[in-house]
Amino acid sequence: MRNANRRIVLRTRPEGVAGPEHFAEETVAVRAPGPGEVLLETLYVSVDPAMRVWISENPGYVQRIDPGDMMRGSGIARVVESKVPGLEPGDLVHARTGWQSHPTLEAEAVEKLPAGVTPTDWLGVLGMTGLTAYFGMRAVGGVQPGETVLVSGAAGGVGQIAGQVARIEACRVVGIAGGAKKCAWLRNELGFHATIDYKAEPNLAAAVARECPGGLDVFYDNVGGAMLDAALANLKLRARVVICGRISQTAAGELYGVRNMGQLIGKRARVEGFIVSDFAHRFGEGRAWLSARMAEGALRHRVHEIEGLEHAPEGLAMLFRGGNTGKLVVRVGG
Ligand SMILES: NC(=O)c1ccc[n+]([C@@H]2O[C@H](COP(=O)([O-])OP(=O)(O)OC[C@H]3O[C@@H](n4cnc5c(N)ncnc54)[C@H](OP(=O)(O)O)[C@@H]3O)[C@@H](O)[C@H]2O)c1
Repeated sequence: MRNANRRIVLRTRPEGVAGPEHFAEETVAVRAPGPGEVLLETLYVSVDPAMRVWISENPGYVQRIDPGDMMRGSGIARVVESKVPGLEPGDLVHARTGWQSHPTLEAEAVEKLPAGVTPTDWLGVLGMTGLTAYFGMRAVGGVQPGETVLVSGAAGGVGQIAGQVARIEACRVVGIAGGAKKCAWLRNELGFHATIDYKAEPNLAAAVARECPGGLDVFYDNVGGAMLDAALANLKLRARVVICGRISQTAAGELYGVRNMGQLIGKRARVEGFIVSDFAHRFGEGRAWLSARMAEGALRHRVHEIEGLEHAPEGLAMLFRGGNTGKLVVRVGG
């Protein structure tokens, strides 16, 4: 179907978790590239919790996606036809492909993949996901050897890397994840020192106290809500709380009111949010560090692959139901 561009558009705005019922697939003609443009064949697209924010009524600081709009997002693609020097058919590129099979984009918005990296690594461990973990843990969290670090959402794309960054920095790392299987993987394969299966714990704050008896130097939070409260109840003096994400609140009807903020006073603790793009000028440093640790065998990671563009909306729902382990991507073509 050389002339068919399959794409996923938002059909209705979701309440709660977004899934296949909120999206539709449509086929439009491929647009031939004009001067300065390239026609691409998408190989992989990323699925990210932030997408649920983009399709909500009030997405805050990001541009909203409305019903009828194509789902935007980042992907890896192969150049099919090029009207610019420096990009040839067959080249692999990273771009804001959106959820479509054959985008036509301005070449300026397209980044050629360095030789030797895999497409899924460039979306995951060496892409936004890994860089978020690296800068969140090191630059925002400021982890130091010997510290105790707790990571929520630890078996997800960001969490799996964040925990290992702290472990490599000689910290004691405890991960929170849903289910015994994810927890065993974190301990046995990724070298987390201890884990908390939050789904099996009646009292989260007590579970954190049990696994981190001396308290927390750093809490790297991907989840928010009750988990943030449980961590706040267990801070050490001068602890740092890194607000990376709040997936428990992203699709929630009623927001959880955090109760333990008072702990910050006596503990002289700091809470800081960040956006990975704050560190765009240092991405090279982050990628070099992550690549070197992978080459040494110190840093491992998992990619959770779904087959078929039409299943991308199911992927979005999986993130909110804990269906993924590691970085979630959709294989579209190639
Ligand atoms: N600040 C930034 O610049 C930035 C950049 C990228 C991502 N993020 C944030 O980082 C976080 C992780 O993103 P990701 O792409 O790596 O996703 P992910 O962790 O791979 O997937 C989401 C995971 O969150 C857990 N989860 C979902 N609902 C939950 C709930 N109610 N309570 C507890 N855990 C829940 C699930 O694991 P379980 O099975 O363990 O529940 C699920 O697998 C997200 O909050 C995202 O928004 C921030």
